[in-house]
Amino acid sequence: MRAVQIGVGSMTFGRTWRKGLMEIEGVETVGLIDPNPAFLEEARGFYGLPAESCASWASKEFYEQVQADFIIDSTPHSFHYKNAIEAMRCGLNVIVVKPMSDTVATAATMVKEAERLGRKLVVAQQIRFMQPVLQLKKLIAEGIVGDVAYIQADSYFTRQGPVRDKWYQPHPLLLECAIHQFDLIRWMTGLEPESVMADAWNMPWNDEVWGKKTAIALFQMNNGSRALFRGLSTEQPGESYPGHWEIEGDKGVLSLIKGNIYLGGERIWPAEEISEAELDLPALNAEVLKDAIAYFAGNESPVLSGADNLKSLRMAFGCMDSSEKGQRIQL
Ligand SMILES: NC(=O)c1ccc[n+]([C@@H]2O[C@H](COP(=O)([O-])OP(=O)(O)OC[C@H]3O[C@@H](n4cnc5c(N)ncnc54)[C@H](O)[C@@H]3O)[C@@H](O)[C@H]2O)c1
Repeated sequence: MRAVQIGVGSMTFGRTWRKGLMEIEGVETVGLIDPNPAFLEEARGFYGLPAESCASWASKEFYEQVQADFIIDSTPHSFHYKNAIEAMRCGLNVIVVKPMSDTVATAATMVKEAERLGRKLVVAQQIRFMQPVLQLKKLIAEGIVGDVAYIQADSYFTRQGPVRDKWYQPHPLLLECAIHQFDLIRWMTGLEPESVMADAWNMPWNDEVWGKKTAIALFQMNNGSRALFRGLSTEQPGESYPGHWEIEGDKGVLSLIKGNIYLGGERIWPAEEISEAELDLPALNAEVLKDAIAYFAGNESPVLSGADNLKSLRMAFGCMDSSEKGQRIQL
Protein backbone atom coordinates (compact mmCIF):
# COMPACT_ATOMS: atom_id res chain seq x y z
CA MET A 1 0.00 0.00 0.00
CA ARG A 2 1.21 3.46 -0.94
CA ALA A 3 1.67 5.95 1.90
CA VAL A 4 1.87 9.73 2.03
CA GLN A 5 3.04 11.27 5.28
CA ILE A 6 1.93 14.77 6.27
CA GLY A 7 4.15 16.43 8.91
CA VAL A 8 7.62 15.02 8.43
CA GLY A 9 11.22 15.65 9.46
CA SER A 10 13.65 14.27 12.00
CA MET A 11 12.88 17.09 14.47
CA THR A 12 9.21 16.09 14.79
CA PHE A 13 7.07 13.24 16.09
CA GLY A 14 6.68 12.30 12.42
CA ARG A 15 10.16 10.71 12.52
CA THR A 16 8.82 7.88 14.72
CA TRP A 17 6.97 6.44 11.68
CA ARG A 18 10.16 5.87 9.70
CA LYS A 19 10.93 2.44 11.11
CA GLY A 20 7.51 1.03 10.16
CA LEU A 21 7.41 2.78 6.80
CA MET A 22 10.85 1.42 5.88
CA GLU A 23 10.52 -2.10 7.31
CA ILE A 24 6.96 -3.32 6.85
CA GLU A 25 6.55 -5.44 3.77
CA GLY A 26 3.93 -4.19 1.35
CA VAL A 27 4.16 -0.56 2.52
CA GLU A 28 5.80 2.02 0.29
CA THR A 29 6.31 5.72 1.06
CA VAL A 30 5.37 7.57 -2.13
CA GLY A 31 4.81 11.13 -0.93
CA LEU A 32 5.78 13.65 1.74
CA ILE A 33 3.95 16.85 2.68
CA ASP A 34 5.19 19.61 4.99
CA PRO A 35 5.09 23.43 4.80
CA ASN A 36 8.59 23.59 6.34
CA PRO A 37 11.06 23.28 3.40
CA ALA A 38 13.98 22.19 5.61
CA PHE A 39 11.94 19.39 7.22
CA LEU A 40 10.63 18.29 3.82
CA GLU A 41 14.11 18.20 2.30
CA GLU A 42 15.56 16.21 5.20
CA ALA A 43 12.74 13.64 4.97
CA ARG A 44 13.07 13.47 1.17
CA GLY A 45 16.75 12.61 1.62
CA PHE A 46 15.89 9.95 4.19
CA TYR A 47 13.36 8.19 1.94
CA GLY A 48 15.33 8.84 -1.27
CA LEU A 49 12.33 10.34 -3.10
CA PRO A 50 12.37 12.69 -6.11
CA ALA A 51 11.32 16.31 -5.66
CA GLU A 52 7.96 15.68 -7.41
CA SER A 53 7.02 13.29 -4.56
CA CYS A 54 7.06 16.22 -2.13
CA ALA A 55 4.58 19.03 -1.56
CA SER A 56 4.10 21.90 0.85
CA TRP A 57 0.35 21.33 1.04
CA ALA A 58 -2.03 18.44 0.45
CA SER A 59 -4.17 18.48 -2.70
CA LYS A 60 -6.27 16.10 -4.78
CA GLU A 61 -3.80 16.52 -7.64
CA PHE A 62 -0.86 15.52 -5.44
CA TYR A 63 -2.61 12.42 -4.06
CA GLU A 64 -3.54 11.40 -7.62
CA GLN A 65 -0.04 12.06 -8.95
CA VAL A 66 1.66 9.86 -6.34
CA GLN A 67 -1.23 7.32 -6.43
CA ALA A 68 -1.58 7.24 -2.66
CA ASP A 69 -3.67 4.65 -0.79
CA PHE A 70 -3.47 6.20 2.67
CA ILE A 71 -2.02 9.09 4.66
CA ILE A 72 -0.22 9.20 7.98
CA ASP A 73 -1.02 12.59 9.46
CA SER A 74 1.53 13.54 12.11
CA THR A 75 0.85 17.28 12.09
CA PRO A 76 -0.39 19.13 15.21
CA HIS A 77 -3.99 18.21 16.07
CA SER A 78 -5.60 21.45 14.88
CA PHE A 79 -4.83 20.31 11.30
CA HIS A 80 -6.08 16.70 11.62
CA TYR A 81 -9.70 17.44 10.71
CA LYS A 82 -8.90 19.23 7.43
CA ASN A 83 -6.24 16.69 6.44
CA ALA A 84 -8.48 13.68 7.17
CA ILE A 85 -11.60 15.04 5.44
CA GLU A 86 -9.63 16.03 2.33
CA ALA A 87 -7.79 12.70 2.13
CA MET A 88 -10.96 10.62 2.66
CA ARG A 89 -12.77 12.63 -0.02
CA CYS A 90 -9.87 11.79 -2.36
CA GLY A 91 -10.52 8.10 -1.67
CA LEU A 92 -7.72 7.54 0.85
CA ASN A 93 -7.67 5.81 4.21
CA VAL A 94 -6.24 7.74 7.16
CA ILE A 95 -3.90 7.12 10.08
CA VAL A 96 -3.83 10.13 12.37
CA VAL A 97 -1.67 10.63 15.46
CA LYS A 98 -3.41 11.21 18.76
CA PRO A 99 -5.28 13.33 19.73
CA MET A 100 -7.69 12.70 16.86
CA SER A 101 -8.68 16.38 16.72
CA ASP A 102 -8.84 19.52 18.85
CA THR A 103 -12.61 19.38 19.46
CA VAL A 104 -15.11 16.54 19.94
CA ALA A 105 -17.30 17.97 17.15
CA THR A 106 -14.53 17.83 14.52
CA ALA A 107 -13.45 14.34 15.65
CA ALA A 108 -17.06 13.10 15.50
CA THR A 109 -17.37 14.50 11.97
CA MET A 110 -14.17 12.71 10.94
CA VAL A 111 -15.65 9.42 12.18
CA LYS A 112 -19.03 10.06 10.48
CA GLU A 113 -17.38 11.09 7.24
CA ALA A 114 -15.24 7.92 7.24
CA GLU A 115 -18.43 5.84 7.62
CA ARG A 116 -20.31 7.79 4.96
CA LEU A 117 -17.48 7.52 2.43
CA GLY A 118 -16.55 3.95 3.30
CA ARG A 119 -13.01 4.93 4.35
CA LYS A 120 -10.96 3.60 7.26
CA LEU A 121 -9.87 6.00 9.99
CA VAL A 122 -7.21 4.93 12.51
CA VAL A 123 -6.01 6.90 15.54
CA ALA A 124 -2.45 5.94 16.48
CA GLN A 125 -2.85 5.33 20.19
CA GLN A 126 0.33 3.23 20.19
CA ILE A 127 0.67 2.77 23.99
CA ARG A 128 -1.92 -0.01 23.58
CA PHE A 129 0.92 -2.10 22.10
CA MET A 130 3.35 -1.74 25.03
CA GLN A 131 4.18 -5.17 26.45
CA PRO A 132 3.08 -4.48 30.08
CA VAL A 133 -0.21 -3.09 28.76
CA LEU A 134 -0.84 -6.17 26.62
CA GLN A 135 -0.05 -8.39 29.61
CA LEU A 136 -2.36 -6.47 31.95
CA LYS A 137 -5.20 -6.59 29.42
CA LYS A 138 -4.76 -10.35 29.05
CA LEU A 139 -4.66 -10.96 32.82
CA ILE A 140 -7.80 -8.87 33.40
CA ALA A 141 -9.62 -10.70 30.58
CA GLU A 142 -8.62 -14.05 32.13
CA GLY A 143 -10.35 -12.93 35.33
CA ILE A 144 -7.28 -12.85 37.57
CA VAL A 145 -8.75 -10.01 39.67
CA GLY A 146 -12.39 -10.99 39.07
CA ASP A 147 -14.84 -8.15 38.41
CA VAL A 148 -13.00 -4.86 38.28
CA ALA A 149 -14.10 -2.51 41.07
CA TYR A 150 -11.38 0.15 41.17
CA ILE A 151 -8.75 1.43 38.74
CA GLN A 152 -6.03 3.93 39.46
CA ALA A 153 -3.68 5.29 36.81
CA ASP A 154 -0.92 7.73 37.72
CA SER A 155 1.19 9.49 35.13
CA TYR A 156 4.23 11.46 36.28
CA PHE A 157 5.90 14.40 34.57
CA THR A 158 8.75 16.64 35.61
CA ARG A 159 7.96 19.76 37.61
CA GLN A 160 7.94 21.73 34.36
CA GLY A 161 5.06 19.55 33.15
CA PRO A 162 4.12 18.67 29.56
CA VAL A 163 4.87 22.13 28.20
CA ARG A 164 4.12 22.71 24.51
CA ASP A 165 5.80 25.94 23.52
CA LYS A 166 5.14 25.28 19.81
CA TRP A 167 1.46 26.15 20.04
CA TYR A 168 -0.99 27.25 22.73
CA GLN A 169 -3.65 24.93 24.09
CA PRO A 170 -5.48 25.32 27.40
CA HIS A 171 -5.11 21.66 28.45
CA PRO A 172 -1.90 20.05 27.14
CA LEU A 173 -1.91 17.42 29.89
CA LEU A 174 -5.50 16.26 29.37
CA LEU A 175 -5.55 16.36 25.58
CA GLU A 176 -2.05 15.24 24.60
CA CYS A 177 -0.93 13.09 27.55
CA ALA A 178 -3.84 11.80 29.66
CA ILE A 179 -5.56 10.68 26.45
CA HIS A 180 -3.21 7.66 26.58
CA GLN A 181 -4.35 6.57 30.06
CA PHE A 182 -8.00 7.32 29.24
CA ASP A 183 -7.70 5.09 26.20
CA LEU A 184 -5.97 2.35 28.24
CA ILE A 185 -8.62 2.42 30.99
CA ARG A 186 -11.20 1.49 28.36
CA TRP A 187 -9.06 -0.89 26.36
CA MET A 188 -7.47 -2.86 29.21
CA THR A 189 -10.68 -3.36 31.20
CA GLY A 190 -13.31 -3.46 28.44
CA LEU A 191 -15.34 -1.01 30.56
CA GLU A 192 -16.77 2.28 29.32
CA PRO A 193 -16.96 5.58 31.24
CA GLU A 194 -20.38 7.03 32.04
CA SER A 195 -19.47 10.24 33.85
CA VAL A 196 -16.50 12.19 35.19
CA MET A 197 -15.60 14.72 37.86
CA ALA A 198 -12.25 16.37 37.19
CA ASP A 199 -10.01 19.23 38.16
CA ALA A 200 -7.14 20.59 36.10
CA TRP A 201 -4.79 23.24 37.48
CA ASN A 202 -1.20 24.40 37.75
CA MET A 203 1.15 23.82 40.67
CA PRO A 204 2.64 27.00 42.24
CA TRP A 205 5.87 26.36 40.29
CA ASN A 206 4.11 26.21 36.90
CA ASP A 207 3.37 29.23 34.74
CA GLU A 208 -0.18 29.71 33.50
CA VAL A 209 1.21 30.11 30.00
CA TRP A 210 0.89 26.93 27.93
CA GLY A 211 -2.17 25.79 29.86
CA LYS A 212 -2.95 23.45 32.77
CA LYS A 213 -0.28 20.84 33.44
CA THR A 214 -1.72 18.82 36.35
CA ALA A 215 -5.11 17.07 36.52
CA ILE A 216 -7.07 14.57 38.57
CA ALA A 217 -10.16 12.84 37.18
CA LEU A 218 -12.59 10.35 38.70
CA PHE A 219 -14.64 8.37 36.17
CA GLN A 220 -17.69 6.29 36.95
CA MET A 221 -17.55 3.23 34.72
CA ASN A 222 -20.49 1.31 33.27
CA ASN A 223 -20.18 -1.56 35.80
CA GLY A 224 -20.31 0.90 38.73
CA SER A 225 -16.54 0.78 39.27
CA ARG A 226 -14.48 3.95 39.60
CA ALA A 227 -11.34 4.89 37.67
CA LEU A 228 -9.06 7.53 39.17
CA PHE A 229 -6.50 9.26 36.93
CA ARG A 230 -3.77 11.53 38.27
CA GLY A 231 -1.42 13.40 35.91
CA LEU A 232 1.16 15.12 38.09
CA SER A 233 3.77 17.76 37.25
CA THR A 234 5.70 17.35 40.48
CA GLU A 235 9.01 16.12 41.80
CA GLN A 236 7.51 12.73 42.64
CA PRO A 237 9.31 9.89 40.88
CA GLY A 238 7.49 7.81 38.29
CA GLU A 239 6.98 7.45 34.57
CA SER A 240 4.53 9.06 32.18
CA TYR A 241 3.66 6.02 30.00
CA PRO A 242 2.06 3.70 30.71
CA GLY A 243 2.50 5.02 34.27
CA HIS A 244 1.70 3.43 37.61
CA TRP A 245 -1.52 1.39 37.69
CA GLU A 246 -3.59 -0.36 40.38
CA ILE A 247 -6.53 -2.50 39.25
CA GLU A 248 -8.57 -4.07 42.01
CA GLY A 249 -11.38 -6.59 41.58
CA ASP A 250 -13.31 -8.90 43.90
CA LYS A 251 -10.57 -11.55 43.58
CA GLY A 252 -7.38 -9.50 43.89
CA VAL A 253 -5.22 -6.51 42.99
CA LEU A 254 -2.95 -6.10 39.96
CA SER A 255 -0.29 -3.39 40.02
CA LEU A 256 1.90 -2.06 37.23
CA ILE A 257 4.97 -0.34 38.62
CA LYS A 258 7.90 0.68 36.38
CA GLY A 259 6.92 -1.91 33.80
CA ASN A 260 6.61 -4.79 36.30
CA ILE A 261 3.26 -6.45 37.03
CA TYR A 262 2.41 -7.53 40.59
CA LEU A 263 -0.52 -9.63 41.82
CA GLY A 264 -1.26 -8.98 45.48
CA GLY A 265 2.22 -7.49 45.85
CA GLU A 266 4.06 -10.47 44.24
CA ARG A 267 5.77 -9.80 40.91
CA ILE A 268 4.30 -12.06 38.23
CA TRP A 269 5.69 -10.42 35.05
CA PRO A 270 8.24 -10.18 33.50
CA ALA A 271 10.45 -13.09 34.57
CA GLU A 272 13.34 -10.70 35.40
CA GLU A 273 12.53 -7.46 37.21
CA ILE A 274 12.99 -4.36 35.02
CA SER A 275 13.83 -0.80 36.08
CA GLU A 276 11.31 0.89 33.77
CA ALA A 277 8.86 0.13 30.98
CA GLU A 278 10.51 0.47 27.58
CA LEU A 279 8.89 3.24 25.52
CA ASP A 280 10.10 2.58 21.97
CA LEU A 281 7.83 4.82 19.89
CA PRO A 282 9.21 3.79 16.46
CA ALA A 283 8.60 0.09 17.28
CA LEU A 284 5.15 0.84 18.72
CA ASN A 285 4.18 2.93 15.68
CA ALA A 286 5.28 0.04 13.47
CA GLU A 287 2.69 -2.08 15.34
CA VAL A 288 0.08 0.62 14.71
CA LEU A 289 0.98 0.56 11.03
CA LYS A 290 0.64 -3.24 10.82
CA ASP A 291 -2.75 -3.09 12.53
CA ALA A 292 -3.88 -0.30 10.19
CA ILE A 293 -2.69 -2.08 7.03
CA ALA A 294 -4.63 -5.20 8.01
CA TYR A 295 -7.70 -3.01 8.68
CA PHE A 296 -7.36 -1.31 5.28
CA ALA A 297 -7.05 -4.76 3.68
CA GLY A 298 -10.32 -5.96 5.22
CA ASN A 299 -9.69 -6.99 8.86
CA GLU A 300 -12.93 -6.01 10.58
CA SER A 301 -11.59 -5.98 14.16
CA PRO A 302 -8.63 -3.60 14.30
CA VAL A 303 -7.05 -2.64 17.63
CA LEU A 304 -7.33 1.02 16.67
CA SER A 305 -10.18 2.81 14.92
CA GLY A 306 -11.51 6.34 14.89
CA ALA A 307 -14.98 5.27 16.04
CA ASP A 308 -13.51 3.56 19.10
CA ASN A 309 -11.06 6.38 19.80
CA LEU A 310 -13.85 8.97 19.88
CA LYS A 311 -14.90 7.47 23.24
CA SER A 312 -11.40 8.04 24.66
CA LEU A 313 -11.28 11.58 23.28
CA ARG A 314 -14.64 12.34 24.94
CA MET A 315 -13.04 11.42 28.29
CA ALA A 316 -10.40 14.15 27.81
CA PHE A 317 -12.95 16.79 26.81
CA GLY A 318 -15.32 15.65 29.58
CA CYS A 319 -12.51 16.36 32.08
CA MET A 320 -11.97 19.86 30.68
CA ASP A 321 -15.70 20.54 30.85
CA SER A 322 -15.96 19.22 34.42
CA SER A 323 -12.94 21.20 35.59
CA GLU A 324 -14.16 24.43 34.01
CA LYS A 325 -17.78 24.06 35.24
CA GLY A 326 -17.00 22.48 38.62
CA GLN A 327 -19.60 19.77 37.89
CA ARG A 328 -19.92 16.05 37.17
CA ILE A 329 -20.19 15.58 33.38
CA GLN A 330 -22.13 12.74 31.72
CA LEU A 331 -20.12 11.22 28.89
N1 LIG B 1 2.73 9.21 21.51
C1 LIG B 1 2.20 9.88 20.51
O1 LIG B 1 1.36 9.35 19.80
C2 LIG B 1 2.64 11.30 20.22
C3 LIG B 1 3.86 11.79 20.75
C4 LIG B 1 4.23 13.11 20.41
C5 LIG B 1 3.40 13.90 19.62
N2 LIG B 1 2.22 13.38 19.16
C6 LIG B 1 1.30 14.22 18.37
O2 LIG B 1 1.91 14.52 17.13
C7 LIG B 1 1.40 15.78 16.67
C8 LIG B 1 2.55 16.63 16.17
O3 LIG B 1 3.45 16.89 17.22
P1 LIG B 1 4.93 17.48 16.92
O4 LIG B 1 5.55 17.74 18.25
O5 LIG B 1 5.65 16.63 15.97
O6 LIG B 1 4.52 18.87 16.25
P2 LIG B 1 5.36 19.88 15.33
O7 LIG B 1 4.90 21.27 15.65
O8 LIG B 1 6.83 19.59 15.43
O9 LIG B 1 4.82 19.57 13.86
C9 LIG B 1 4.93 18.35 13.20
C10 LIG B 1 5.13 18.59 11.72
O10 LIG B 1 3.93 19.06 11.11
C11 LIG B 1 4.26 20.08 10.19
N3 LIG B 1 3.08 20.91 9.99
C12 LIG B 1 2.63 21.92 10.74
N4 LIG B 1 1.50 22.40 10.22
C13 LIG B 1 1.23 21.67 9.11
C14 LIG B 1 0.18 21.69 8.13
N5 LIG B 1 -0.81 22.56 8.23
N6 LIG B 1 0.24 20.79 7.14
C15 LIG B 1 1.23 19.91 7.06
N7 LIG B 1 2.25 19.85 7.95
C16 LIG B 1 2.23 20.74 8.95
C17 LIG B 1 5.44 20.78 10.81
O11 LIG B 1 6.20 21.53 9.84
C18 LIG B 1 6.21 19.61 11.36
O12 LIG B 1 7.05 19.05 10.38
C19 LIG B 1 0.60 16.39 17.82
O13 LIG B 1 -0.79 16.26 17.60
C20 LIG B 1 1.01 15.55 19.03
O14 LIG B 1 0.00 15.41 20.02
C21 LIG B 1 1.84 12.10 19.42
